[in-house]
Amino acid sequence: MTAPAWDFLVGKTDLHQTRVDAAPLAPLADGDIRLKVESFALTANNITYAVFGERMGYWKFYPAPEGWGRVPVWGYAVVTESRHPEFVLGQRFFGYVPMSTHMTATPRKTAGGFFETAPWRAGLAAPYNQYRAVEGVEAHEDQQSLLFPLFMTSFVIDDMLDDNGVFGAKSVVLSSASSKTAIGLAHLLHRRGAVQVVGLTSPGNVAFTESLGCYDQVIPYAGLGGAAVEGPVVYVDFAGNAGVRTAVHLRFGEALVYDCVVGGTHWDAEPAVPADLPGAKPAFFFAPDQITKRRQDWGPGGLEARFAQAWPVFVEHAAGWMRVERRAGPESVTKTYLGVLDATASPDQGFICTP
Ligand SMILES: NC(=O)c1ccc[n+]([C@@H]2O[C@H](COP(=O)([O-])OP(=O)(O)OC[C@H]3O[C@@H](n4cnc5c(N)ncnc54)[C@H](OP(=O)(O)O)[C@@H]3O)[C@@H](O)[C@H]2O)c1
Repeated sequence: MTAPAWDFLVGKTDLHQTRVDAAPLAPLADGDIRLKVESFALTANNITYAVFGERMGYWKFYPAPEGWGRVPVWGYAVVTESRHPEFVLGQRFFGYVPMSTHMTATPRKTAGGFFETAPWRAGLAAPYNQYRAVEGVEAHEDQQSLLFPLFMTSFVIDDMLDDNGVFGAKSVVLSSASSKTAIGLAHLLHRRGAVQVVGLTSPGNVAFTESLGCYDQVIPYAGLGGAAVEGPVVYVDFAGNAGVRTAVHLRFGEALVYDCVVGGTHWDAEPAVPADLPGAKPAFFFAPDQITKRRQDWGPGGLEARFAQAWPVFVEHAAGWMRVERRAGPESVTKTYLGVLDATASPDQGFICTP
């Protein structure tokens, strides 16, 4: 007997509200395929999608009942029904999937997989609509789901900093230094060796962050005032916490030469910063700008080739600090989501969910 199909839903105005709805499989339209979601990763990045669901369109990917949203996640899915002549049962893909047992797609075949053409996804960023075909089972699938989208961001930030001579800085300070995306950036900066890599983190995550070996210095948030950090300084913000940003600007003043806004792990903290902080004005990091620039600088495939060299080194690094933990079924997925939302999970955990 087949297991019942379901969707995991969160309240758009209260991310602690969750529910699991039965989702009977409706007949497919011509040209559509149905995929069974095999597995997906859950990290703070997915919580950021939910926090910015309304403002940045993340709720638009997967239709949901009024007032509820389906959080996008990264993972693997397999075709279980097809009304499209170019797609057959058993084909596997990696990409953006919902926290659900199934998804439907209106695919346009591409060289490497398919492009999702559902009309409600037309205005959304192209990388989220690209699905990569997977032959059989590939190496490091858990790491791919957990780290690939995050490390792509780390890679592009590292490249943007390098492209700008790190704005003349001697130190790069990263908030939420224990997050996987920050670790990816710290790892890349550390390998270049041109700057001091300084991590800011919660007191409970200091020991873990120090143990990674890619930070020259790790400081608890409250300890920034008294810490010796060589300027000029670039700040890369993964926490999105106004209090932390204010403390960084006050501590470094005009020696803060660049403030790069990337994430919002501290999603329930005050995000609004005072207008007249000393030092560089916060600049929102938009990865596609740097990607477009590098496509011009390096030509077709240049960025991908460089990323392909960096990726296995980081996967090996992550094997030393990330414990993959598997969660299966709607109750377990709900608990895992709430743990990631409230940061009761520890930073060395990497959750792979099977719906
Ligand atoms: N702009 C982009 O394109 C892009 C792409 C990828 C990722 N990002 C952003 O980078 C950030 C990191 O994502 P990730 O998936 O790498 O995170 P992750 O590994 O799941 O991060 C876990 C860490 O985040 C902090 N944290 C998480 N939830 C928290 C909460 N509720 N309250 C306080 N701290 C909390 C804690 O770090 P500390 O104790 O060290 O603060 C925790 O150890 C996210 O905001 C994500 O959106 C942005």
